[in-house]
Amino acid sequence: MKKKIFILSLLIAVFLMVALPLPSRGVDAGRIDWQKIPSTRITLIYPGTTSFEFLTGDDHRLGGRNILRGKKDCKRCHLSKRNELDLKTAEIVSGVLKKKRSRKPFEPDPISGKKGLLIASLKAAYDDEFIYIMLMWPSTGAAWPSGSAASGIEADRVSMQINKSNDSFRRYGCFITCHSDLNTMPDGPGVDLVKKDPYYAGAKRKDVRLYAFYTRDGAWNRPIEKGALGALRKGGGLIDLWSMEISEGKGEAMDGWVFDDRRFEAASDIEGSAVWTGRNGGSYRAFFKRKLATGDASDVDIRVGETFSLAVAVHDDNTDKRRHYVSFPSTIGIGAEVADIKAYRLEK
Ligand code: HEC
Repeated sequence: MKKKIFILSLLIAVFLMVALPLPSRGVDAGRIDWQKIPSTRITLIYPGTTSFEFLTGDDHRLGGRNILRGKKDCKRCHLSKRNELDLKTAEIVSGVLKKKRSRKPFEPDPISGKKGLLIASLKAAYDDEFIYIMLMWPSTGAAWPSGSAASGIEADRVSMQINKSNDSFRRYGCFITCHSDLNTMPDGPGVDLVKKDPYYAGAKRKDVRLYAFYTRDGAWNRPIEKGALGALRKGGGLIDLWSMEISEGKGEAMDGWVFDDRRFEAASDIEGSAVWTGRNGGSYRAFFKRKLATGDASDVDIRVGETFSLAVAVHDDNTDKRRHYVSFPSTIGIGAEVADIKAYRLEK
């Protein structure tokens, strides 16, 4: 009898091992020996209401002409090779700086004491199957202590937009998705107007979220025609979005995309975790891990030998929506030579 039970349990054990999905292989991103992986400095600015319309318009005439012609990128004019930033970020964040021609303030609703700059660092690694990214940035960790959600503090957050082949994204990064007519911008359309719009009504939505400029014909309520949209998507116009929401002592990775809208997917292909330490004034580290190629049409697949562009946004210290820091884009090479950041190949 005992022998029968033993054999039966053995069979059940074997069945469970075969039938249940194995946990994904590869290392937990938080456990990689990150010490040996080189770090790259990422400069993030507080942009206020800097939108794609500002960047391509009369208030930014010299830069705008270059952007419309797809010539110089943001870094070329605003960040030197030695990381010296040529942008009046302190005056933007404090609400003092006005746009050149319209005389509208860059930040109509300044946050007292907020800094105009955030210096983060990024490390990237990969193996045959996965890519791993670590971001570190100084933070007082406002959302980290447990119980903070109950006291109404916004989660801290780091987000990355990723794209492989779109030229505008490679030059201008997230700025191609940020518009004056987003709901969270001072000149955005109101909820009532959005609800009545056929496109948004069809999607049962009342807010205009991030969208890539090439999915509209100049305004939030003028989507381009479906065939053209499909072609853009096929041609690599979709921007992947990897996000980590941090609160109450943990980070939760979220998998989304930006194209004709900004959405988060119900099933995340991204694993992640975050830690905050109080040393040296405090800092966060957020760890991301994803299969290089997920095969999901809402993700940007990355293959060894390829380069992709990445731009970072950080929401810190009880802020949400547009009140974040953003970086210019950088290129990351996965076993590719020409890139701003070369991802480190992990040994097996
Ligand atoms: C060809 C050079 C050039 C490019 C490319 C360029 N800019 Fe500018 N930018 C300028 C100049 C010059 C000014 C000063 C205002 C002016 O004269 O238009 C400026 C002003 C600004 C300002 C207002 C704050 C300040 O310091 O005056 C912001 C914000 C800004 N640029 C962001 C960007 C971003 C983001 C990009 C990329 C999407 C970009 N710029 C691309 C040249 C450029």
